[in-house]
Amino acid sequence: MTQPRTALIVGAGTGLGRAIALAFAAAGTRIAVADLNADAAQETLALSGKADGLSLRLDIAQPADCAAAVTAVTAKFGRLDILVNCAAICFVDPLIDLTPERFDKVFAVNSRGAFFLMQAAAKTMIAQKFGRIITISTPASHVGVPLFATYGASKAAVDSLTKSAALAWAPHGITVNTISPGRMTGGMVDALDRDLARLTGQNLEELVASRTKTLPMGRRVDPAEVAHAALWLASDAAAYVTGERFNFTGGQELQ
Ligand SMILES: NC(=O)c1ccc[n+]([C@@H]2O[C@H](COP(=O)([O-])OP(=O)(O)OC[C@H]3O[C@@H](n4cnc5c(N)ncnc54)[C@H](O)[C@@H]3O)[C@@H](O)[C@H]2O)c1
Repeated sequence: MTQPRTALIVGAGTGLGRAIALAFAAAGTRIAVADLNADAAQETLALSGKADGLSLRLDIAQPADCAAAVTAVTAKFGRLDILVNCAAICFVDPLIDLTPERFDKVFAVNSRGAFFLMQAAAKTMIAQKFGRIITISTPASHVGVPLFATYGASKAAVDSLTKSAALAWAPHGITVNTISPGRMTGGMVDALDRDLARLTGQNLEELVASRTKTLPMGRRVDPAEVAHAALWLASDAAAYVTGERFNFTGGQELQ
């Protein structure tokens, strides 16, 4: 019998990261879950029912944490086949008020962190001659989003780095892709909606309803639905897919 694959899911404490970790666990993959919030990561592992799993605290903005997480995974499981990075932050800042500190913080997590995490994973995957790297992007990476421009721009950097990494590591059997989910239920959009309502003086419920009404399908997507895209990109069926952006947006990208 071939060994089950091993996945490291980063930002697995809540939202999409948790949903992807649970989906991989249910599919029989060995999982390591990591998050800035160690308790939340531990809770995800407990929910997965994987007694042999690993739970880690990791600040993706610290390259040393990323390298240590990969070392911990390979020490426990002997290999790292799949990396899924869901960790990100989104700040609401009118452009005219944006400070260098707020700008740097978002890029440190969403762009620089995403890159040094994939680089740490790739070092192990190159030695194995196999790997699947998936980072979560967003429809906001290629349109104007004046109230959360750092978020969109930092994810545009992820889109670009993904293409370069895909080309650099294709000869080593590694695929590198992004998933761009539409607006999801729960997760960081709840905080974003609250910030937008506060900034614009709108009633929160009305703002949520009007933002949801503009979506082609008239509803937000459940993170558990998006998790299927990660399962597929990590599967053998997707072995020839690299440098791609998997839009899971219910048509939001077309507007
Ligand atoms: N929510 C949406 O509608 C939506 C839409 C498109 C893309 N996305 C992307 O999907 C991903 C998941 O979003 P979500 O809504 O589940 O968000 P979330 O806020 O629920 O989850 C993000 C997780 O990342 C962790 N995290 C934050 N900073 C970290 C750090 N420095 N190091 C390690 N972990 C850190 C958080 O603790 C949290 O558990 C993100 O990359 C986000 O940009 C979300």
